[in-house]
Amino acid sequence: MNISNNTILITGGSMGIGLALAEELLQQNNTVIICARNQKKLDSAQKKNPNLHTVTCDVSDEHSVSNMVDNLLKDHPTLNILINNAGMMHLHDVVNNSLALEHQKNEILTNIFGVISLCDKLLPHLIKQKNAAIVNVTSGLAYMPFMAAPVYTATKAAIHSYSLSIRAALKNTSVTVFEVLPPMVETEMSHGMDMPGMKKMLPNNLAKYTIKKMRKDTLEIKPGAASMMIKMYNWFPWMINKMMDNMAPKLLADITHSTK
Ligand SMILES: NC(=O)c1ccc[n+]([C@@H]2O[C@H](COP(=O)([O-])OP(=O)(O)OC[C@H]3O[C@@H](n4cnc5c(N)ncnc54)[C@H](OP(=O)(O)O)[C@@H]3O)[C@@H](O)[C@H]2O)c1
Repeated sequence: MNISNNTILITGGSMGIGLALAEELLQQNNTVIICARNQKKLDSAQKKNPNLHTVTCDVSDEHSVSNMVDNLLKDHPTLNILINNAGMMHLHDVVNNSLALEHQKNEILTNIFGVISLCDKLLPHLIKQKNAAIVNVTSGLAYMPFMAAPVYTATKAAIHSYSLSIRAALKNTSVTVFEVLPPMVETEMSHGMDMPGMKKMLPNNLAKYTIKKMRKDTLEIKPGAASMMIKMYNWFPWMINKMMDNMAPKLLADITHSTK
């Protein structure tokens, strides 16, 4: 895919992986619009990157998504790439029932319903573009269990499956469906998570790798350690399960306040 001269919407683009993708795509001569909920974070991303367009949107809220899409299509009618990156992860100690159901629901609404509603509202427009793409950011965890974040893990597996199905459905259209499955990346989301012997990837390296692979039309993009972790899980699931299980107790013990 040509990675220049596109008009790109990145959800959750105000920090972390989304902002790194936005900055890299700006450098490749694209028009980039980011959305997120927090206006201050959007403003600071825009201050750092004056060419960036920003819009507030809560992807878990259908009306907020509808409003954003209506305005975007007026202001940026050439929009041809949607990057579904916004996501949240709640640690959840299932044994001690630590996380209120409301937070689990919000995680599902953001990580699953957010992606589906953006695709639903933008696909009629994307299909009319000469070259278009949907890029879903899931996780290496889509393939394996992680007891410290069971709802998050399930949402990523769901969007992995959704990506496979919509890719098949859209194969005779102009819309290419990519999936990015990051390993652990140094962002606010992974703060406090450390896997012995595994360094977190830097967001800008993940962004560069993703764009390189999109350019080559690699549909499933597994940056850094993700590729190895997924292969190892297929060959030796007990080994990866042990690594993940070893990381969980410390994380769960560190939940400083129960959200119940
Ligand atoms: N970091 C990792 O190790 C890692 C690994 C694998 C996959 N991922 C995935 O990569 C994506 C980005 O993660 P990250 O690490 O960059 O996270 P992050 O640093 O926490 O950033 C998350 C971004 O999403 C936005 N966001 C959250 N909920 C939203 C909502 N309901 N509506 C709109 N925007 C929302 C946040 O802004 P507001 O809070 O202002 O809305 C922020 O811009 C996520 O899908 C995550 O699951 C991350």
